[in-house]
Amino acid sequence: MATVNKTQKISSKSTFLQEVVGYNRQVPLLNGTFQRYINFDNAASTPALKPVLDKVNEAMEWYSSIHRGTGFKSQLCSRIYDQAREVVADFVNIDPASHAIIFGKNATEAINKLARRMRLAKDQIVLVSKMEHHSNDLPWRANGQVKHIGILEDGQLDLEDLVHLLKKYYGKTALVALTGASNVTGWVNDIAKIAGLCHEYGTKLLVDAAQLAPHRRIDMKPDDDPEHIDFLVISAHKIYAPFGSGALIGDKDFFKDGDPDDVGGGTIKIVDLDYAHWSEPPEKDEAGTPNTIGVIAFAKALLTIMETGIERIVEHEKKLTGYILKNMAGIPGIEIYGSSDPAIVDNRLGVISFNIKDIPHALTAAILNYEGGIGVRNGCFCAQPYIKELLGINSAEGVEIKQQILRGDRSRLPGAVRVSFGFYNTPEEIDRFIELLKIIATGEYEGKYLLDKQRGEYHPEGYSPSYTKYFQL
Ligand code: ALA
Repeated sequence: MATVNKTQKISSKSTFLQEVVGYNRQVPLLNGTFQRYINFDNAASTPALKPVLDKVNEAMEWYSSIHRGTGFKSQLCSRIYDQAREVVADFVNIDPASHAIIFGKNATEAINKLARRMRLAKDQIVLVSKMEHHSNDLPWRANGQVKHIGILEDGQLDLEDLVHLLKKYYGKTALVALTGASNVTGWVNDIAKIAGLCHEYGTKLLVDAAQLAPHRRIDMKPDDDPEHIDFLVISAHKIYAPFGSGALIGDKDFFKDGDPDDVGGGTIKIVDLDYAHWSEPPEKDEAGTPNTIGVIAFAKALLTIMETGIERIVEHEKKLTGYILKNMAGIPGIEIYGSSDPAIVDNRLGVISFNIKDIPHALTAAILNYEGGIGVRNGCFCAQPYIKELLGINSAEGVEIKQQILRGDRSRLPGAVRVSFGFYNTPEEIDRFIELLKIIATGEYEGKYLLDKQRGEYHPEGYSPSYTKYFQL
């Protein structure tokens, strides 16, 4: 465990909300009043925690280039950067001596790197589920042969189909690439069980933990445990450190093999005009000057979460999820994708995607913003195939919509509205959301909204807030 200052944890007395940078910002509403902004879009990106921002500001005083500088600040930053790897190792419960923790900019970049580093042969297969967001599907399509694991009617992973595919492609499956939790329905996959199946059928498992890591304990387990996770990726911007970093974690032996996909400064032991010998992992896979400040923020966020207690976070978020589902049940015309049962909170996250009958998802999202100061996301959440299946869009309709979008008209973009919690959200925020949702469902909202077809967005007629009044470069 790294030597770190453990004093700045989130106090059990304060509400979690006050630990978030910018939590009390007032935003303008259509009716000329102001409301405290509610952020229900944590699945896309989380705000920074105050201890994280404090640590970033402190680090800036000591910032200098790492690993190659001889000055005191460089030496200090190099040490801290290496300690950050130990913090990540601690967070996912692995031995940093046997695992490479490769820092990069986010989970998407990490998956792309792994896909390139695997250098799959033409006949090798990657099993990717239909519940993935694009970042854990497209990199595999670009670098290998993908077969998709099906989903059940409620959006959960079809484990029987996984076993069927593992048997069908036995000896050919190089990897199963699976999300830890869905960014659309919130379903949490049974990773230990799936890891056991992958190893039983002689393949490896990548867990995309971008959504899971902020909400559940992660245990990669030792390599001799059949339920271990072979590769894992995390995005810091989804775990309260939006400073552009993330990590790819996997066995060092894997990364010792082969050439790095990106080469340059920092990746070599020695180089001359006719040869280059690569460094040891993880440095071998971190070309160029790294994002030291982002990595410090990332490590501080993980420390803060560990010290706050992931169990406390899980319990709080389960309560929020049960509470919102119970209250959404009373909204006329509501349809929730995945589970709408307030009692089912153990194997799902506080990620709730829904539609209100006959009201476009983009319109609901716009009213929540302009009339409630509530930030959500709408559309497909970078998971278009999953959304299409959940919405039951048939292939003929899918082709029609695709052609319309390619012509520059996004007015029929399929999708839903998504609420996604962070551990700082509160039941009072849910009350405000439910109140407005009722108004939307009964058509009693104030504005007259016009559709911008090109963007697929609604805006109130004759109204545009002065954004520059709030923040400018
Ligand atoms: N995967 C990110 C989201 O769900 C982009 O919003």
